Amino acid sequence: MDHRSSICWCMVLSLVFAAVDNAVSQSDQRTMEILRDQLQGSKWNATDQDFCKWYGVYCNSNRMVERLELSHLGLTGNFSVLIALKALTWLDLSLNSFSGRIPSFLGQMQVLQCLDLSANHFSGTIPSEIGNMRSLFYLNLSSNALTGRIPPELSSIKGLKILNLNTNGLNGGIPEEFHRLESLQELQLSVNHLTGPIPQWISNLTSLEIFTAYENSFNGAIPQNLGLNSNLEVLNLHSNKLVGSIPESIFASGQLQVLILTMNSLDGSLPRSVGKCRGLSNLRIGSNKLTGSIPPEIGNVSSLTYFEANENSISGNLVPEFAHCSNLTLLSLASNGLTGSIPSELGSLPNLQELIVSGNSLSGDIPKALSKCKNLSKLDLSCNRFNGTIPEGLCNIPHLQYMLLNENSLRGEIPSDIGNCKRLLELQLGSNYLSGRIPGEIGGMSNLQIALNLSFNHLEGPIPTALGRLDKLVSLDVSDNKLSGAIPVNLKGMESLIDVNFSNNLFSGIVPTFRPFQNSPGSSFKGNRDLCGEPLNTCGNISLTGHQTRHKSSFGKVLGVVLGSGILVFLMVTIVVVLYVIKEKQQLAAAALDPPPTIVTGNVFVESLKQAINFESAVEATLKESNKLSSGTFSTIYKVIMPSGLVFAVRKLKSIDRTVSLHQNKMIRELEKLAKLSHENVMRPVGFVIYDDVALLLHYHLPNGTLAQLLHREGGTSEFEPDWPRRLSIALGVAEGLAFLHHCHTPIIHLDIASANIFLDANFNPLIGEVEISKLLDPSKGTTSITAVAGSFGYIPPEYAYTMQVTAAGNVYSFGVILLETLTSRLPVEEAFGEGMDLVKWVHNASSRKETPEQILDAKLSTVSFAWRQQMLAALKVALLCTDNTPAKRPKMKKVVEMLQEVNQGA
Ligand SMILES: *[C@@H]1O[C@H](CO)[C@@H](O)[C@H](O)[C@H]1NC(C)=O
Ligand SMILES: *[C@@H]1O[C@H](CO)[C@@H](O)[C@H](O)[C@H]1NC(C)=O
Ligand SMILES: *[C@@H]1O[C@H](CO)[C@@H](O)[C@H](O)[C@H]1NC(C)=O
Ligand SMILES: *[C@@H]1O[C@H](CO)[C@@H](O)[C@H](O)[C@H]1NC(C)=O
Ligand SMILES: *[C@@H]1O[C@H](CO)[C@@H](O)[C@H](O)[C@H]1NC(C)=O
Ligand SMILES: *[C@@H]1O[C@H](CO)[C@@H](O)[C@H](O)[C@H]1NC(C)=O
Ligand SMILES: *[C@@H]1O[C@H](CO)[C@@H](O)[C@H](O)[C@H]1NC(C)=O
Ligand SMILES: *[C@@H]1O[C@H](CO)[C@@H](O)[C@H](O)[C@H]1NC(C)=O
Repeated sequence: MDHRSSICWCMVLSLVFAAVDNAVSQSDQRTMEILRDQLQGSKWNATDQDFCKWYGVYCNSNRMVERLELSHLGLTGNFSVLIALKALTWLDLSLNSFSGRIPSFLGQMQVLQCLDLSANHFSGTIPSEIGNMRSLFYLNLSSNALTGRIPPELSSIKGLKILNLNTNGLNGGIPEEFHRLESLQELQLSVNHLTGPIPQWISNLTSLEIFTAYENSFNGAIPQNLGLNSNLEVLNLHSNKLVGSIPESIFASGQLQVLILTMNSLDGSLPRSVGKCRGLSNLRIGSNKLTGSIPPEIGNVSSLTYFEANENSISGNLVPEFAHCSNLTLLSLASNGLTGSIPSELGSLPNLQELIVSGNSLSGDIPKALSKCKNLSKLDLSCNRFNGTIPEGLCNIPHLQYMLLNENSLRGEIPSDIGNCKRLLELQLGSNYLSGRIPGEIGGMSNLQIALNLSFNHLEGPIPTALGRLDKLVSLDVSDNKLSGAIPVNLKGMESLIDVNFSNNLFSGIVPTFRPFQNSPGSSFKGNRDLCGEPLNTCGNISLTGHQTRHKSSFGKVLGVVLGSGILVFLMVTIVVVLYVIKEKQQLAAAALDPPPTIVTGNVFVESLKQAINFESAVEATLKESNKLSSGTFSTIYKVIMPSGLVFAVRKLKSIDRTVSLHQNKMIRELEKLAKLSHENVMRPVGFVIYDDVALLLHYHLPNGTLAQLLHREGGTSEFEPDWPRRLSIALGVAEGLAFLHHCHTPIIHLDIASANIFLDANFNPLIGEVEISKLLDPSKGTTSITAVAGSFGYIPPEYAYTMQVTAAGNVYSFGVILLETLTSRLPVEEAFGEGMDLVKWVHNASSRKETPEQILDAKLSTVSFAWRQQMLAALKVALLCTDNTPAKRPKMKKVVEMLQEVNQGA
């Protein structure tokens, strides 16, 4: 070929290529248009003429789609047309609502390198065809509802670097064939039902950096050479059935940053080689069967932030080398066999927030140097053998919230600087040998809230009147001391007090007549020879056994009633709903034939919306099942798109017919009043329509659904896990809204507090819905069949069974259930709790099942950070107070708001 003809060839070739390109890019255009039409999801901005400019679409220079990043757009539908995108290397459809099986056609996408289908509703087994995706290096199928075994065919993807199958329902073992995945850097198999041993060949994967398999049922030992051939950075195997020892090899490379082996049956000791890992920040090996002592090399782990080894059989001393870990924030060695004393070197830990060594055999003095730990918030030395005095200066720690020194052999007096503990929430000094008087300065602990326990000591003298300043304190126990004198009237200032115990002292005079004292059982005052008055039947040391048994049997009766009527209420709700569904079906059938119903009256309260709302559209929307958004105890909600294009929610009240026809004018007046209620966490009606004998209420449509939907997405695994700060802010908003309702001009008791009635706006700001119900239906009037229903199953306060009245305290209970849902991600009623158990009982009974509060919390949130866990534990305490069986013991909603604000500011 001469020069000229070769140029010619080039021209021809490039023309041909251009034509091919053109054709391909046109077909990408068509493909993308079909894709857009098939994916329902209003949040995808795909409006531009040029598909390459659509949101999340990245084209190459030939205008072929190379990357699709369509995460978190609420998409559903059929994406099979994607297969025509020949240049696609990157496909991210995570955090959407796709469902059904993972399509096997993906196996034909030979150039795809990255596939992220995580956090959708995919179910069924993982198609083995995925193994044909030769170019894949990133595969994320986590947080779906996938079942069956992990297909061994995935091992054909030779270049796979990242494999995440977390949070599905997978079972079986790790396929033997996976030893061929030599490029694997990250293998995540956590939160599944996987079984069998962790295979030995895992330690032959030379690139492995991250391996997590927590919350499965793996048994056998951790592979002995794991970490020997690679730079292991994260190893998280908590909550399995692993046995054997912690292999030295995992520390060999010195690269380990996170080691979590909590809740297994591991034995042996923590290897000395842990000292090689200077970058190890998170070391959690609690709840195992570990023995031996903590190696002094722990001091070489200079990044150590979080050390948790509670509930093992670790012996030896609390090594002073911990003091070299200047970032140490949590040191928990509770429930072990430690001996010796607390080294005063620990006082040099500026960041230490929690020092928890309860349940050991530590002795000696509490080092004064601890007062130099300026960030300490929890000091738990309870249940040891400390035999010195309580040092002065501990209360110079500005953030100290918990001082738990009970069940030791502490002697001497309570230091008078105790009043400097301004942030203290709980002071436990019970069961020691403390002597002298209770210092009046104790009244300076202005935030003391949870408990003040001085019981079983040798304290004498009078109760200081300054105690009356502790107006937030809930529980006060000074029993079994030698305290004397009258119980001071100033204690009247303790307005939050619920639980008191003054028994077995030398008190005299009259039991104060104010509430917390009069509501207490006689046993709270027994054993004081010269103390008289109610609730003691007689003065002095009279046996109260008769009294107590009476209490017990009436409690049994109440329990029976509560259980029985819980079922009754559930049945009634079911009947109402069933009747309603039947009625609606008939209406639907009728609607198909009849002309549209005639509108009696209607109004729009918001001036600017008057033009935008069309009553007929609202009525029509409620006649179509497909518009239904949700259904609650008292109403069903439909979505309506007005001819103006604005979207509203229409609430159709159930079984309200007679109320409407008899009290129409009253109802309209109430609605108008409600429309004026102004609080950002309360949903107000924007208008109403009455047709025939049906009332419809109009609200703004809130696109983020309800709190129930957010917390418990249908389909098992959640599509979008709201993180803890968001959950806390939602709970706080709900509490503020409820407090507003309870304390507004004419207080409103809500009839149906449930997470399904908490709506979320675009910023996830919560709004309490169904407020109208409380005004429109008055159960005490007995006009409708709803009288017997006090809200949603699982949220009904126990006292409702015998009072049949919804009260503010009942609302607090229901709110407590919502808070528990937020903390545990569990439903208020689940079969898993066992017979007769609901969420509240399950949580309150945790300690009898030997479960710690940490085991109740949603581990996906509480293990994220120390700060989150701390806040969650504090919020759990609030939830427990709210769901107390006794209505009088529950805090007021305003108080709940304060407590949650403190949780929010703490940590
Ligand atoms: C959609 O994209 C267009 C242009 O690309 C832009 O003008 C418009 O604001 C976007 N809309 C939304 C809702 O993001
Ligand atoms: C998706 O669409 C393709 C072709 O358009 C069809 O073959 C396939 O069955 C559809 N998948 C589902 C789950 O509807
Ligand atoms: C996989 O998906 C989950 C859930 O969307 C996400 O948290 C994670 O960061 C993703 N990537 C990897 C490498 O696990
Ligand atoms: C790991 O690799 C070594 C050496 O390459 C080999 O001898 C051993 O059999 C491998 N172990 C497993 C379990 O595959
Ligand atoms: C710990 O550090 C000291 C020096 O700081 C060193 O002598 C010792 O070998 C280290 N121990 C380990 C296990 O790394
Ligand atoms: C302590 O933590 C800080 C902030 O995370 C970090 O910058 C620093 O390097 C850490 N110190 C050590 C000794 O690891
Ligand atoms: C205590 O904690 C705060 C924030 O949590 C941090 O800024 C501070 O450096 C820590 N140390 C001391 C000594 O206050
Ligand atoms: C405290 O206990 C230790 C160890 O049992 C003992 O040696 C010491 O004498 C005791 N101190 C006091 C003040 O009783």
